[in-house]
Amino acid sequence: MTYDFLHRPRRLRMKTRMRDMVRENHLRHDDLIYPLFVTYEADAKKPIASMPGCFQHGLNRIGEVCREIEGMGIPAVILFGLPEHKDERGSSACAPDGVIAKAVASIKQACPSLIVMTDVCLCEYTSHGHCGVLKGEEILNDETVEILCREAVTHANAGADVIAPSDMMDGRVAAIREALDAASHLYTPIMAYSVKYASGFYGPFRDAVESAPSFGDRRSHQMDPPNRREALRQARIDLNAGADVLMVKPGLPYLDIIRDLRNEFDVPLAVYNVSGEYSMLKAAAEKGWLDERRTVMETMLAFKRAGADLILTYHALDLARWLNEGDGA
Ligand code: PBG
Repeated sequence: MTYDFLHRPRRLRMKTRMRDMVRENHLRHDDLIYPLFVTYEADAKKPIASMPGCFQHGLNRIGEVCREIEGMGIPAVILFGLPEHKDERGSSACAPDGVIAKAVASIKQACPSLIVMTDVCLCEYTSHGHCGVLKGEEILNDETVEILCREAVTHANAGADVIAPSDMMDGRVAAIREALDAASHLYTPIMAYSVKYASGFYGPFRDAVESAPSFGDRRSHQMDPPNRREALRQARIDLNAGADVLMVKPGLPYLDIIRDLRNEFDVPLAVYNVSGEYSMLKAAAEKGWLDERRTVMETMLAFKRAGADLILTYHALDLARWLNEGDGA
């Protein structure tokens, strides 16, 4: 028997071609930014146990690694450094011959048109693993910002295309903008980790760059997870300070925040699909509990649907391969 229904949404779902035509969101290679860990141990390719498929890459190998990444169609990487020396003030973050400066230079030589972004923070460079200079157990804000400015200029001098401060110190975007301009880097954009929550999902990353804090946590500067309104305030401060791209981090647990920022601001939005989000899917896929390709693609489309333009993700290489095979959406 046939009912006389006027509305049958399934009409548009019956054929693959038709579904493709009415699809509202798409993932493209140009949406992807691939995070990379670079170590001073020049020839190393060290697997990261909690992030299957990710490695610490040595300085001698990083150019070649990036050539391959660009060859897959990925337009950008973001670099995190493992320095030879750590100290109380994270001094090696500002060294012109430090691991990131060297990595940027060799990537620029190997593949000049790949967009190279650098993470600006001190936690990878301090002996105590905190994001800034300490006085007792307190992170000193303004003293830290001064060092971050020098770190950012060091990266830009080495050829970095985009500076991405992830430290969450107050006032750092304004100060870094001023420092970049003073060093004639007028056209080097800042992608601000503006809405960065104090999240448990960063666990595997801290293994990857050996930056777990030796005491305490990061709640004195990163945002409190239950807060939503505060995200708009933090984003507005960074925008007024000259941020070119805003970022929300982590991704999946904060889709509402991405949508809030999308509705409120008109700059490009990035989302960081962080290490713990990656590891969860990888672990479930390894156990055969989830279909990796399907769930990773679905996750990326959730970011696009929420309003993100750019996605920092450790899945980027797999995604590029799947897109090249005609997957995607
Ligand atoms: C700080 C920084 C962190 C991440 C990116 N930049 C760690 C932290 O705030 O503790 C986390 C990224 C991830 O989990 O994938 N330099």
